[in-house]
This record gives sequence, C-alpha cells and structure tokens, in this order.
Amino acid sequence: MFIESFKVESPNVKYTENEILSVYSYETTELVHEDREGTYQWIVKPKTVKYEFKTDIHVPKLGVMLVGWGGNNGSTLTAGVIANREGISWATKDKVQQANYFGSLTQASSIRVGSFNGEEIYAPFKSLLPMVNPDDIVFGGWDISDMNLADAMARARVLDIDLQKQLRPYMESMLPLPGIYDPDFIAANQGARANNVIKGTKKEQVQQIIKDIREFKEQNKVDKVVVLWTANTERYSNVVVGLNDTVENLLGSVDKNEAEISPSTLYAIACVLENVPFINGSPQNTFVPGLIDLAIRRNCLIGGDDFKSGQTKMKSVLVDFLVGAGIKPTSIVSYNHLGNNDGMNLSAPQTFRSKEISKSNVVDDMVSSNGILYEPGEHPDHVVVIKYVPYVADSKRAMDEYTSEIFLGGKNTIVMHNTCEDSLLAAPIILDLVLLAELSTRIQLKSEAEGKFHSFHPVATILSYLSKAPLVSLISMVLSLSLVYISCCYEFIFAH
Ligand SMILES: NC(=O)c1ccc[n+]([C@@H]2O[C@H](COP(=O)([O-])OP(=O)(O)OC[C@H]3O[C@@H](n4cnc5c(N)ncnc54)[C@H](O)[C@@H]3O)[C@@H](O)[C@H]2O)c1
Repeated sequence: MFIESFKVESPNVKYTENEILSVYSYETTELVHEDREGTYQWIVKPKTVKYEFKTDIHVPKLGVMLVGWGGNNGSTLTAGVIANREGISWATKDKVQQANYFGSLTQASSIRVGSFNGEEIYAPFKSLLPMVNPDDIVFGGWDISDMNLADAMARARVLDIDLQKQLRPYMESMLPLPGIYDPDFIAANQGARANNVIKGTKKEQVQQIIKDIREFKEQNKVDKVVVLWTANTERYSNVVVGLNDTVENLLGSVDKNEAEISPSTLYAIACVLENVPFINGSPQNTFVPGLIDLAIRRNCLIGGDDFKSGQTKMKSVLVDFLVGAGIKPTSIVSYNHLGNNDGMNLSAPQTFRSKEISKSNVVDDMVSSNGILYEPGEHPDHVVVIKYVPYVADSKRAMDEYTSEIFLGGKNTIVMHNTCEDSLLAAPIILDLVLLAELSTRIQLKSEAEGKFHSFHPVATILSYLSKAPLVSLISMVLSLSLVYISCCYEFIFAH
C-alpha cells in the first residue's frame, strides 16, 4: 500500500516549530589487529555511536545556477521543471503525455515506512524530510553561447515538438550570462559557439562570477543558491606543487593568471568564496587539492564528479550483483555512440580521457571487496570506447559486454544494449543533486562525544550516490569520515 505522508511518534524524534530533532544509534564495527596469545589476529568489535540530528524545517526559495545552462542538460531540465510547474500535457504519437519527474530519486521513488495489518506500507521519498519542491526552483546560469533557452531547447532536439511549442513562450526571455571560456580546456570544435564570454584575467573572471551570483540572488529574491556544472567536459588539469596543491598556491595562481587553472575550477572558487554549494556534473578534476582544502576551510559544500546516469549506473548495479554473488567479472567492454554536442566535445582525445577515467574507476571498490575472486592488484580488463555519430543526436547508444568466470572455470557472457535520450536521464539526476545539496545544508549533527552540532563534512558524500567518480575516493581521510556521515544520514532519514 502507498501513503502520501506520515508523522513519526517516537521518543527519539521531536518536532518543534523550527526543527526536527532526532536521536539515532548507529550500529557499526571497529577492527583491530592485535597480538593475542602470540599470534596477530583481526578482532571485530561491535560498537554503537549515538548521533543527534537537527534539521531546519524552513524550506528556502531556491535558485539554481547552471554552468552550461544552454546545453542539452541545462535546457532540458529547465523545460522539464516548467512543464511540471505549469501542468503541461502534449500529444505524442502514442498518447497524451503529462509532465512528470520520472527518473528522480527524490521525486519519483518511494521507501518502505513500516507495515499495517501485515501489509508493507510505502511513502514517497520526498515525504521523509521537508525538501524544496522542484516546481518552485528559479533557474539561471552561464553559457559561452548566447542562445536563449527556447532556441537552446530546439537546438538540443530532445523534447517532443508539441511540448517545445508550449514551452517556448516561457523560455524565450531566459538568457544565459556570459561564461568563462578557455579553448585550452575543451575541444577545439566548441569554438564556434563561444560568443558569450567573460573577458579579463582569471581573478577578474572569479570576481564576475561572484557578482553574477549576488545579482541573481537579489533579482530573483531567492534565499539560497546552488551552482552546478553541466558544461562541456574539460581536459584534466595538471596538479602541480606550488600551482594548485594548497589553498594559498591555488589562490596565488589565480592572482598570477596561471594558464593551468581551468574554467570549472574558477567557477568553483567563486562559489566556495561566496559559500554557495558547487556540484560538478562532468568528469574533469575541477576539485584540485587546493580547492578541496578551500571548501573544507570555509565549510562550503562541494560534490561530484560526473552524473551517474545510464551505462555506469547499470555497471554499478550489475558488477555489484555479480561480485556479491561470488561470480568473477574478468572483462568489461563498454561502447557508446552519441551525436549530441557532448559527444562532439568528447571526440577530442584530451576530453575523452577525462570521461574514460571516470567511467573506468566505477568497478574498483567492488573488485577490491572480494579477495576470494581477485588476487591483490588484479582487475578485470575494462575498456571504454566513445564515438561521435551526429545522426543519433541525444539518443545515446550504450553496448556492454560482461564476461565472468563461473564455477569450475566456466565462462558467462552478458551483453546489454541501452538506447536512451541522454539528457532525459541526466536532468532528473541534476534535480536530485541540487535538492539533496540544499537539504544537506539544513542538517546539523553531533555524536555523543561532541559538544556542539556541526554540519556534514563539506565534501558531500551523500551526493556520490548520483556520481560516477565520487569525490571522496580521492582522499582517504575524508572518505572514512564521510562514510560515517552518509550512512548516518540515510539511517537518520529512516529514524524519522
Ligand atoms: N547527459 C548525460 O547523461 C550525462 C551524464 C554524465 C555527465 N554528463 C556531462 O554533462 C555535461 C553536459 O552535457 P550536455 O549533454 O548538456 O552537453 P552540451 O554540450 O549540450 O552542453 C554544455 C553547454 O556548456 C556550455 N559551456 C561549455 N563550456 C562552458 C563554460 N566554461 N562556461 C559556461 N558554459 C560552457 C556549452 O556552450 C554548452 O551549451 C557534459 O560534460 C557531459 O559529459 C552528461
């Protein structure tokens, strides 16, 4: 059975005028490697940590600024939210289609809340905690192409034409702000659309982004802003001692107009300095060490990298299932072809390399979790190919072959063919990322050992579920801390 909403009655949960207070006992285990009677042994010690959570229930008016607003993802998301807000329906060759938020974890998934007369009861995910209604989001952002959002939607060739016609009046007046353009970081084939760019030094560009965010906030009377990168994939930037390895070096390099500081890092610096959450939806290493430290120092939420939308989502699920079932994937080969502007940009070797790294790392944790199947350091052969085929436009094809070793040296091969509009997969994920980022900024927690409430760790592990290359895996210290946070956060939600 499905219910729309509920309230919790528990000694561990208290609703006040401004907050939801909840106490949660987190059951975990700690391992030690100790000498016991002359031999070293692994000892598992169960432990319970009591956490208190405090959630501000006042849902703000939220502004979302997209970097790459006029791209396929940006225009599709904006169009989709307007279609939902205005209750638009349109004729397709199959039926009259209503706007919906299918594909969004927060808007279209449900969770089990308990049982009633022996029957399982489910409720919408979004009923767990007070969250921003996506219909109320105010969109804005930057693009190096000056095309208005209605024309950008037409250029993307994602939505049905009857829907586009109805949306056009709402989107014609939406104009992207000039963006930071550096041809060294994206494919040369993007140069033709770069007619809307911020001039000046890197320092001046950062200042301009800060000014843009302030003006957007003021003009739209929004309480909070979240910024998300859905612009083209950049090449990796070199991480160099003295250049971008520490906060001081990174900010110094911006002052010195160093060429190796990428546009995405400049946007992220501006956001962190402005205490605005920044999410990276593309695979490049926007979050160089100096930037991560800056976010930690200023306690500003950052999350990423790279939306986990189609092929990689399937890969995570399937490989986790296979390895968890004691089956040994030995070869994973993934072909993609797509014909949108993202595909064109990825046809350059440097930008493709960013995507390849992001797509390849996804099985590493699963492989290293099973020392029965894999020797230390052993990995399946894992190959990723991406080809640009203009005719298929946004309708991306993904073909995967998984070969595994099974019982007594047998082989099992699974082949998968996935066809889907890329932007229709990514848009609801972008929505989830910004909604969960906003929610995270309203949650405070403390363990019984801590005197004061504090926010989640600035590297937002909770957003990693929606990312191909979770930022946390880059730094082990943050990983261990954030893993505690994320599991608590999920459990905390259930504790309600
Ligand atoms: N669609 C998916 O399923 C999916 C999944 C994972 C990641 N991604 C990533 O999302 C990103 C966007 O995808 P898309 O299909 O919307 O691409 P797109 O090419 O249609 O849109 C990108 C937009 O960014 C603009 N742009 C480029 N550099 C900019 C800059 N420095 N500042 C401001 N604007 C800039 C471009 O003009 C373009 O309008 C890509 O990097 C892609 O790899 C997409």
